[in-house]
Amino acid sequence: MMPEQEAQSTGRGWNPVQYDRFRDERRQPFYDLTGLIQRERGMHVVDLGCGTGELTAWLHREIGAADTLGVDHSDAMLADSAAFVGPGVRFEKADILDFVRAHRGAFDLVFSNAALQWVTGHETIIPKVLELAKPGGQVALQMPSNLNHTSHRLAAEIAGEEPFRTALDGWVRHDPVQTAEWYADLLHRAGLIEMRVRLEVYPHLLTSTRGIVEWVKGSLLTAYTSRLPADLVEPFLKRYEQVLVERLGYREPFFYAFPRILLWGRLLG
Ligand SMILES: C[S@@+](CC[C@H](N)C(=O)[O-])C[C@H]1O[C@@H](n2cnc3c(N)ncnc32)[C@H](O)[C@@H]1O
Repeated sequence: MMPEQEAQSTGRGWNPVQYDRFRDERRQPFYDLTGLIQRERGMHVVDLGCGTGELTAWLHREIGAADTLGVDHSDAMLADSAAFVGPGVRFEKADILDFVRAHRGAFDLVFSNAALQWVTGHETIIPKVLELAKPGGQVALQMPSNLNHTSHRLAAEIAGEEPFRTALDGWVRHDPVQTAEWYADLLHRAGLIEMRVRLEVYPHLLTSTRGIVEWVKGSLLTAYTSRLPADLVEPFLKRYEQVLVERLGYREPFFYAFPRILLWGRLLG
């Protein structure tokens, strides 16, 4: 298991309560991605990095799937998934890297919302994700594309300051997400016969600049807080917030423009 995936499985990594603080904002891309799917009868679906499973169950009902499997490697995120198990819906604890190796050609639809940005090496892993689909099957993937935003770059910058640098042994998170056109090219090379690739900017009005800290605490910063010793977590978050407000200015409200890449495609039948 790579360090990044290990870190995401630890207690101070994913926290469903923190993640859900921006419930509506985080759900809209999921709904938009679902809107790209071409509905077919009796689909066999996998949702990679399904989180709590609530949206997996929603997806299952919305597209009238025959069966839907939610896969995630975080115990914390999967803890409540039992509540969403139902006819045709089940969950499995697995790492995406292991799962793609074991289930080639098994699904009519391969779905993943806001998870693949946690898996590095997209040149290699995205083709494997596509191979989970049967011939003629569909893929629908969404990833944030905000690596150039101050909120994103700052996390690595603070991680490079002491005492965090030593505690993290020099580790910083490298975002594997590429440009929308890079994915279009990859889908083409992988032999997809139809595709829709779009970059969409989601407009979020946060109560203040500090709202960004709450936002990234539920996602990006988990990579750092899960690796830091407990007594350095609060100092790291405070330092991040201090520099963030210095760079962006304190604003009430704060407009957070959040770009995301949505990919849909169909494999050759
Ligand atoms: C931002 S959450 C998205 C959850 C859900 N898909 C949604 O749209 O609300 C990312 C999820 O991906 C999972 N994840 C990240 N890397 C993973 C990996 N390598 N294998 C399995 N799950 C992973 C995390 O545990 C987390 O639950």
